Amino acid sequence: MPRRPLCQTALLLSLLLPLVAAAGEPEAAPGARHAHALADARAPFVLPPLPYPADALQPAIDAETMALHHDRHHRAYVDNLNKAVAADPALAGQTLAQLLAQASRLPAAVRNNGGGHYNHSLFWQLMAPPGQGGAPSPALRAQIERDFGSLDAMQRAVEQAGLGQFGSGWAWLVWADGRLQVVATANQDNPLMDVAAVRGFPLLGVDVWEHAYYLKYQNRRADYLRQWWSVLDWNTVNRRFDAARAGG
Ligand SMILES: [Fe+2]
Repeated sequence: MPRRPLCQTALLLSLLLPLVAAAGEPEAAPGARHAHALADARAPFVLPPLPYPADALQPAIDAETMALHHDRHHRAYVDNLNKAVAADPALAGQTLAQLLAQASRLPAAVRNNGGGHYNHSLFWQLMAPPGQGGAPSPALRAQIERDFGSLDAMQRAVEQAGLGQFGSGWAWLVWADGRLQVVATANQDNPLMDVAAVRGFPLLGVDVWEHAYYLKYQNRRADYLRQWWSVLDWNTVNRRFDAARAGG
Protein backbone atom coordinates (compact mmCIF):
# COMPACT_ATOMS: atom_id res chain seq x y z
CA MET A 1 0.00 0.00 0.00
CA PRO A 2 1.53 3.39 -0.97
CA ARG A 3 2.44 5.75 1.81
CA ARG A 4 0.16 8.77 2.10
CA PRO A 5 1.67 12.26 2.08
CA LEU A 6 1.74 13.71 5.58
CA CYS A 7 -0.87 16.38 4.75
CA GLN A 8 -3.33 13.72 3.52
CA THR A 9 -2.86 11.72 6.68
CA ALA A 10 -3.47 14.80 8.80
CA LEU A 11 -6.64 15.57 6.84
CA LEU A 12 -7.88 12.02 7.25
CA LEU A 13 -7.24 12.14 10.98
CA SER A 14 -8.99 15.48 11.31
CA LEU A 15 -12.06 14.00 9.64
CA LEU A 16 -12.06 10.75 11.57
CA LEU A 17 -11.17 11.90 15.07
CA PRO A 18 -14.47 13.72 15.74
CA LEU A 19 -16.34 10.59 14.64
CA VAL A 20 -14.26 8.42 16.94
CA ALA A 21 -14.76 10.86 19.79
CA ALA A 22 -18.51 11.05 19.17
CA ALA A 23 -18.81 7.28 19.17
CA GLY A 24 -16.73 6.88 22.30
CA GLU A 25 -18.04 9.73 24.42
CA PRO A 26 -21.36 9.45 26.19
CA GLU A 27 -23.61 12.46 26.07
CA ALA A 28 -23.89 12.44 29.84
CA ALA A 29 -22.36 10.23 32.50
CA PRO A 30 -20.98 6.76 31.78
CA GLY A 31 -24.23 5.33 33.08
CA ALA A 32 -26.08 6.97 30.25
CA ARG A 33 -23.97 5.16 27.69
CA HIS A 34 -24.59 1.89 29.48
CA ALA A 35 -28.29 2.55 29.75
CA HIS A 36 -28.59 3.83 26.21
CA ALA A 37 -26.76 0.85 24.72
CA LEU A 38 -29.56 -1.33 26.04
CA ALA A 39 -32.46 1.04 25.42
CA ASP A 40 -31.24 1.93 21.91
CA ALA A 41 -30.86 -1.68 20.75
CA ARG A 42 -32.98 -2.82 17.82
CA ALA A 43 -34.01 -6.25 16.57
CA PRO A 44 -32.49 -8.73 16.40
CA PHE A 45 -31.96 -8.42 20.14
CA VAL A 46 -29.14 -10.40 21.70
CA LEU A 47 -28.65 -12.09 25.05
CA PRO A 48 -25.85 -10.24 26.87
CA PRO A 49 -23.36 -12.44 28.72
CA LEU A 50 -23.38 -12.38 32.51
CA PRO A 51 -20.75 -9.84 33.58
CA TYR A 52 -19.42 -12.33 36.19
CA PRO A 53 -19.35 -16.12 36.65
CA ALA A 54 -22.66 -17.74 37.64
CA ASP A 55 -21.31 -18.55 41.10
CA ALA A 56 -19.97 -15.04 41.76
CA LEU A 57 -23.00 -13.87 43.73
CA GLN A 58 -23.00 -16.67 46.30
CA PRO A 59 -24.14 -16.97 48.98
CA ALA A 60 -26.92 -14.47 48.22
CA ILE A 61 -27.79 -16.10 44.90
CA ASP A 62 -26.67 -19.63 44.07
CA ALA A 63 -24.93 -20.60 40.83
CA GLU A 64 -27.70 -22.89 39.60
CA THR A 65 -30.30 -20.15 39.93
CA MET A 66 -28.08 -17.69 38.09
CA ALA A 67 -27.35 -20.12 35.27
CA LEU A 68 -31.00 -21.08 34.78
CA HIS A 69 -32.16 -17.51 35.14
CA HIS A 70 -29.76 -16.15 32.56
CA ASP A 71 -29.28 -19.05 30.16
CA ARG A 72 -32.89 -20.28 30.04
CA HIS A 73 -35.26 -17.56 31.20
CA HIS A 74 -33.54 -14.50 29.77
CA ARG A 75 -32.70 -16.34 26.56
CA ALA A 76 -36.38 -17.23 26.15
CA TYR A 77 -37.36 -13.56 26.50
CA VAL A 78 -34.85 -12.58 23.84
CA ASP A 79 -35.86 -15.36 21.43
CA ASN A 80 -39.57 -14.71 21.89
CA LEU A 81 -39.12 -10.95 21.54
CA ASN A 82 -37.30 -11.43 18.25
CA LYS A 83 -40.04 -13.73 16.98
CA ALA A 84 -42.80 -11.32 18.02
CA VAL A 85 -41.09 -8.29 16.48
CA ALA A 86 -40.32 -10.17 13.27
CA ALA A 87 -44.03 -10.95 12.97
CA ASP A 88 -44.93 -7.24 12.94
CA PRO A 89 -42.98 -5.21 10.33
CA ALA A 90 -44.11 -1.93 11.91
CA LEU A 91 -42.05 -2.78 15.00
CA ALA A 92 -38.93 -4.07 13.28
CA GLY A 93 -36.90 -0.84 13.23
CA GLN A 94 -37.87 0.42 16.67
CA THR A 95 -35.52 0.62 19.62
CA LEU A 96 -36.23 -1.24 22.81
CA ALA A 97 -36.98 2.08 24.52
CA GLN A 98 -39.48 2.98 21.81
CA LEU A 99 -41.18 -0.38 22.14
CA LEU A 100 -41.45 -0.08 25.92
CA ALA A 101 -42.82 3.45 25.67
CA GLN A 102 -45.82 2.19 23.68
CA ALA A 103 -46.41 -0.94 25.71
CA SER A 104 -50.14 -0.25 26.02
CA ARG A 105 -50.55 -0.68 22.26
CA LEU A 106 -48.19 -3.61 21.76
CA PRO A 107 -49.04 -7.25 21.26
CA ALA A 108 -48.73 -9.01 24.62
CA ALA A 109 -45.74 -11.01 23.38
CA VAL A 110 -43.76 -7.84 22.61
CA ARG A 111 -44.70 -6.14 25.88
CA ASN A 112 -43.89 -9.18 28.02
CA ASN A 113 -40.71 -10.26 26.27
CA GLY A 114 -39.49 -6.72 25.60
CA GLY A 115 -39.90 -5.94 29.27
CA GLY A 116 -38.29 -9.24 30.16
CA HIS A 117 -35.26 -8.48 28.00
CA TYR A 118 -34.78 -4.96 29.35
CA ASN A 119 -35.39 -5.90 32.98
CA HIS A 120 -33.02 -8.85 33.00
CA SER A 121 -30.27 -7.06 31.07
CA LEU A 122 -30.44 -4.35 33.71
CA PHE A 123 -30.66 -6.85 36.56
CA TRP A 124 -27.32 -8.49 35.67
CA GLN A 125 -25.66 -5.08 35.55
CA LEU A 126 -27.11 -4.21 38.94
CA MET A 127 -25.31 -7.00 40.75
CA ALA A 128 -21.68 -7.61 41.69
CA PRO A 129 -19.86 -10.15 43.85
CA PRO A 130 -20.26 -9.48 47.59
CA GLY A 131 -17.95 -6.71 48.73
CA GLN A 132 -17.45 -5.33 45.23
CA GLY A 133 -20.62 -3.27 44.86
CA GLY A 134 -19.33 -0.05 46.37
CA ALA A 135 -21.65 2.33 48.17
CA PRO A 136 -24.16 5.04 47.31
CA SER A 137 -22.44 8.17 46.01
CA PRO A 138 -22.72 11.25 48.25
CA ALA A 139 -25.22 12.75 45.80
CA LEU A 140 -27.39 9.63 45.71
CA ARG A 141 -27.22 9.17 49.46
CA ALA A 142 -28.33 12.78 49.96
CA GLN A 143 -31.24 12.27 47.57
CA ILE A 144 -32.26 9.03 49.31
CA GLU A 145 -32.19 10.77 52.70
CA ARG A 146 -34.25 13.64 51.27
CA ASP A 147 -36.91 11.35 49.82
CA PHE A 148 -36.98 8.47 52.34
CA GLY A 149 -35.32 9.76 55.49
CA SER A 150 -32.54 7.18 55.41
CA LEU A 151 -30.87 4.55 53.27
CA ASP A 152 -32.34 1.87 55.50
CA ALA A 153 -35.85 3.25 55.02
CA MET A 154 -35.43 3.18 51.25
CA GLN A 155 -34.24 -0.41 51.36
CA ARG A 156 -37.17 -1.46 53.54
CA ALA A 157 -39.53 0.29 51.10
CA VAL A 158 -38.09 -1.68 48.16
CA GLU A 159 -38.44 -4.91 50.14
CA GLN A 160 -42.05 -4.08 51.02
CA ALA A 161 -42.80 -3.31 47.38
CA GLY A 162 -41.34 -6.67 46.39
CA LEU A 163 -43.22 -8.51 49.11
CA GLY A 164 -46.45 -6.73 48.26
CA GLN A 165 -46.30 -7.65 44.59
CA PHE A 166 -48.79 -10.49 44.29
CA GLY A 167 -47.40 -13.16 42.00
CA SER A 168 -44.58 -12.30 39.62
CA GLY A 169 -43.06 -8.89 39.10
CA TRP A 170 -40.37 -6.42 40.06
CA ALA A 171 -39.66 -3.84 42.76
CA TRP A 172 -38.01 -0.62 41.61
CA LEU A 173 -36.29 2.51 42.77
CA VAL A 174 -37.26 5.07 40.14
CA TRP A 175 -36.23 8.62 39.34
CA ALA A 176 -39.55 10.25 38.46
CA ASP A 177 -40.86 13.79 38.74
CA GLY A 178 -37.59 15.03 40.20
CA ARG A 179 -37.50 12.62 43.10
CA LEU A 180 -36.86 9.01 44.02
CA GLN A 181 -39.86 6.74 44.30
CA VAL A 182 -40.35 3.05 45.05
CA VAL A 183 -42.87 1.11 43.03
CA ALA A 184 -43.69 -2.46 42.05
CA THR A 185 -44.75 -3.66 38.62
CA ALA A 186 -46.44 -6.91 37.62
CA ASN A 187 -45.04 -9.53 35.26
CA GLN A 188 -42.28 -7.97 33.09
CA ASP A 189 -43.65 -4.43 33.09
CA ASN A 190 -41.27 -1.65 34.07
CA PRO A 191 -41.26 2.10 34.77
CA LEU A 192 -40.27 2.93 31.18
CA MET A 193 -43.64 1.68 29.91
CA ASP A 194 -46.56 3.97 29.23
CA VAL A 195 -48.68 1.66 31.40
CA ALA A 196 -46.55 2.28 34.50
CA ALA A 197 -48.24 3.82 37.54
CA VAL A 198 -44.95 5.64 38.22
CA ARG A 199 -43.26 6.36 34.93
CA GLY A 200 -39.60 7.30 35.14
CA PHE A 201 -36.04 6.07 34.91
CA PRO A 202 -35.32 2.88 36.87
CA LEU A 203 -32.21 3.19 39.03
CA LEU A 204 -32.48 -0.31 40.43
CA GLY A 205 -34.89 -3.18 40.08
CA VAL A 206 -35.09 -6.50 41.87
CA ASP A 207 -36.71 -9.51 40.26
CA VAL A 208 -39.34 -11.13 42.49
CA TRP A 209 -40.39 -13.85 40.09
CA GLU A 210 -40.01 -17.21 41.81
CA HIS A 211 -37.45 -18.26 39.19
CA ALA A 212 -35.12 -15.62 40.72
CA TYR A 213 -34.98 -17.19 44.16
CA TYR A 214 -37.03 -20.36 44.63
CA LEU A 215 -34.23 -22.95 44.44
CA LYS A 216 -32.44 -21.41 47.42
CA TYR A 217 -35.16 -19.56 49.30
CA GLN A 218 -38.32 -21.52 48.34
CA ASN A 219 -41.23 -19.34 49.48
CA ARG A 220 -39.11 -17.01 51.62
CA ARG A 221 -39.20 -13.99 49.32
CA ALA A 222 -38.48 -11.67 52.25
CA ASP A 223 -35.17 -13.43 52.95
CA TYR A 224 -34.17 -13.23 49.31
CA LEU A 225 -34.94 -9.52 49.17
CA ARG A 226 -32.98 -8.85 52.35
CA GLN A 227 -29.96 -10.82 51.06
CA TRP A 228 -30.11 -9.16 47.65
CA TRP A 229 -28.62 -5.92 49.02
CA SER A 230 -25.32 -7.76 49.61
CA VAL A 231 -24.86 -8.15 45.84
CA LEU A 232 -26.27 -4.82 44.68
CA ASP A 233 -23.74 -2.93 42.57
CA TRP A 234 -24.09 0.62 43.85
CA ASN A 235 -21.60 1.74 41.21
CA THR A 236 -24.20 0.96 38.54
CA VAL A 237 -26.94 2.66 40.55
CA ASN A 238 -24.77 5.75 41.03
CA ARG A 239 -24.10 6.00 37.30
CA ARG A 240 -27.77 5.61 36.50
CA PHE A 241 -28.66 8.29 39.03
CA ASP A 242 -26.16 10.68 37.44
CA ALA A 243 -27.53 9.87 34.00
CA ALA A 244 -31.13 10.31 35.12
CA ARG A 245 -30.45 13.74 36.62
CA ALA A 246 -28.57 14.74 33.46
CA GLY A 247 -31.65 13.85 31.45
CA GLY A 248 -30.26 10.54 30.25
FE1 LIG B 1 -36.29 -13.16 36.10
